[in-house]
Amino acid sequence: MPGDGIGPEIMATALQALDALGVDHTTEEHLFGGAAIDAYGAALTEETTEACRRADAVLLAAVGGPRWDTTDPDAPRPEQGLLGLRKALGLFANLRPVRPLPALYDASPLRRERIEGTDLLVVRELTGGIYFGEKTRTATDASDLCHYTVAEVRRIARVAFEAARTRSNRVASVDKANVMETSRQWRQVVHEVHAEEFTDVQLEDILVDNAAMQLVSRPADFDVIVTENLFGDILSDEAAMLTGSIGMLPSASLGGAGGPGSPGLFEPVHGSAPDIAATGAANPLAMLLSTALMLHHGLGLQAQAAALESAVDRALDAGLRTRDLGGTATTNEATRAVLDHL
Ligand code: IPM
Ligand code: MG
Repeated sequence: MPGDGIGPEIMATALQALDALGVDHTTEEHLFGGAAIDAYGAALTEETTEACRRADAVLLAAVGGPRWDTTDPDAPRPEQGLLGLRKALGLFANLRPVRPLPALYDASPLRRERIEGTDLLVVRELTGGIYFGEKTRTATDASDLCHYTVAEVRRIARVAFEAARTRSNRVASVDKANVMETSRQWRQVVHEVHAEEFTDVQLEDILVDNAAMQLVSRPADFDVIVTENLFGDILSDEAAMLTGSIGMLPSASLGGAGGPGSPGLFEPVHGSAPDIAATGAANPLAMLLSTALMLHHGLGLQAQAAALESAVDRALDAGLRTRDLGGTATTNEATRAVLDHL
């Protein structure tokens, strides 16, 4: 699903990479987000949801744009498509790896010595919390309910602990337990899961405001950060800047609640960047790295995933810089640079 803004441009890059890798595949393309609102009056149609359910993996570029921005609660919004699809496919675990490459250390707004050695993974709960709680609006009031069940916290905690075991074996659980009831429950449940099954993993609790500070003051000390939906949304954008640009960050949304073999969704963390759409300035690297996550988690093609990731690394090492990274490379030039390394 190419979506909106720069979406179609970077999706084209991803499809070229799949071809260049020789991955035998069939793709179906569907309108999604603003493009689907224009065509069908809704960001996500039942037909598109069904097509996603039938797929082995769903690759999404980006949705949204000023054209569909509205404060009218009854008007369709592109983001509803994304939230609806996450929910429909049961994608409760959002993995956002943040691994600044040495070649880009100087592209980050943070000093090199702060980011050196950073390699962290944000595990964001994706189908609960304030994003999906009851919303109300009257002429004088508005409210969003933040709600979590113990079962929802348990399953995301397990994903985080299991991920930590494949990495540096440390989990930082981020909450606001000094203020929010959902956070107090979160903290208790994370500790229960830890005590039951994961005592070999090091666990620390961090309040979200403090975590926001630590992410820029000592990012290299983090391994896995696990947190609820809204905190994860905010902290992952912050963490993206460690890599020099939000144009570098991929994500995988996994679940399986839609049944065994239920597909994951793979998408860059950045948005549709309508301001640079059709200018050739889009950085396709987060899209390519999301494609690598799809090959790895979605299709079980580890060698191809590794080849694509390393082609991105080597293109950057060889000097590739799109505009967001302070260079002049266009989307096509960046695509070519990476494909040349495959
Ligand atoms: C993200 C995005 C989405 C979110 C928006 C587009 C609804 O910011 O994937 O981080 O808030 O989850
Ligand atoms: Mg976000």
